[in-house]
Amino acid sequence: MSPTDQQVLESFPNEPIDHDNKEHYRGRLQRRLLVNRCGDCGTWSQPPRGICPACWADAPEATEVSGRGTVYLTMLLHQGPPAPGVDYTRPHPVVVVELEEQPGLRFTAALVDAEDARIGTPVELTWIDRGGEPTPAFRPARRYTGMRLPGKTVVITGAGSGLGRESALLFAREGANVVVTDLNEKRALAVAEQIGAAGGAAVAVRADVRVAAELDAAVATAVAEFGRLDVMFANAGVPPEGFGTVAFEDFTLDAWHAVNDVVLTGVFLSCQAAVRQFKRQGDGGTIVVTGSAGGTTAYPGFFSYCAGKAGAHQLVKCLALDLGRYGIRANALAPTHGMSINFVMPPDAEVLGRSYEEVAAAATGWDPRNSPIPLKKGRPPGLIDSANVALFLASDESEYMSGMVLPAADGGTLSRVAMMFEENWEQNLPPEATTGD
Ligand SMILES: NC(=O)c1ccc[n+]([C@@H]2O[C@H](COP(=O)([O-])OP(=O)(O)OC[C@H]3O[C@@H](n4cnc5c(N)ncnc54)[C@H](O)[C@@H]3O)[C@@H](O)[C@H]2O)c1
Repeated sequence: MSPTDQQVLESFPNEPIDHDNKEHYRGRLQRRLLVNRCGDCGTWSQPPRGICPACWADAPEATEVSGRGTVYLTMLLHQGPPAPGVDYTRPHPVVVVELEEQPGLRFTAALVDAEDARIGTPVELTWIDRGGEPTPAFRPARRYTGMRLPGKTVVITGAGSGLGRESALLFAREGANVVVTDLNEKRALAVAEQIGAAGGAAVAVRADVRVAAELDAAVATAVAEFGRLDVMFANAGVPPEGFGTVAFEDFTLDAWHAVNDVVLTGVFLSCQAAVRQFKRQGDGGTIVVTGSAGGTTAYPGFFSYCAGKAGAHQLVKCLALDLGRYGIRANALAPTHGMSINFVMPPDAEVLGRSYEEVAAAATGWDPRNSPIPLKKGRPPGLIDSANVALFLASDESEYMSGMVLPAADGGTLSRVAMMFEENWEQNLPPEATTGD
């Protein structure tokens, strides 16, 4: 029995299937899919490139692929150019198959004798012969959805609150499968539920970024639930004990470790778990790290935190250098304004989803003239302003960026010179200063 359109859509909720747009499918199906396999290390790569992305050896000639695979996605193709063994007079199931030899490499194929294929069904590929090009196949490129993270699987740490939560909600709206992780399981569950209720795809995992095994488990969940990992967003962070009020000489070693175990070692462990999976997949990967303006400038009393954040900034540069050869890129955002007020609240406090400035503005109103931020806007900065930067770094829009630290929602603050200038300083200059006399 052929699956109905509804069943197909339900079986793969993130893949918008436009049955009316047959031209679209035909256009995609007419492409031949070529891959190459490195003669030196055996890594498959697609699309074919001149060098192996794993070991940099010269890649051999690209070849077409065939073999056994597992059904990854089913769709109905109602019409198309004639092909032997394919009955186009009735809705015909076409599957996207993930090949056994290369997880993550996907092809369309016609199933001529297994019309009720379901996701997970093992199949032999049957190439559709269109009388010219022998092997119509494609890897589902989903840019046409208009989303910015279509079908990408993202693990976010510290996603139960603040920037991580805002990013999880945003990424899911942009088509990502989100593994929502947090030390606080209740928070992670609430965010995953919120995404699910809005029609997105998410699972919640309790993961403490100080524990390597818990990060490995989060990555394993991404693979088990969604097939692969595309992006690691190492975001979790905590403030230092005393929130800047403890004198440098009184700050204990335990307190030093408490903050840096999360903001520096936690980032290291998150990246490590992701890189292992990226290398298993063999086709690159994206790392995004939440740093801080405190990683480039000093926050009063935050010496431990600022040192850790500077370390995290430096880590992405090192990863960019060391992992670029595997197609793995790493960038950080360094938020300044518009950040989570939950950061100063107890770890089990209600998640407010608001920035410091938004909470203050709710009480007293927002007058940009009273804000120290040079950029004057009619609204206070919020979590979405940094989440949008994280989205850019996670998406293919920044595909060629690596090793960068982007100040997010800074509003020009970091451009300010330390010298004091009174308001309207230019109107108070002596006449000779403006005339040059
Ligand atoms: N809020 C700020 O003032 C500010 C400014 C600049 C940068 N940052 C950074 O932004 C990132 C996100 O923080 P936020 O502002 O959204 O704060 P937040 O407190 O709202 O959210 C942080 C989340 O991380 C979780 N978390 C804490 N320790 C963890 C651990 N060991 N393992 C896993 N999860 C853990 C918390 O449970 C919380 O849900 C952090 O890296 C933080 O350092 C914050």
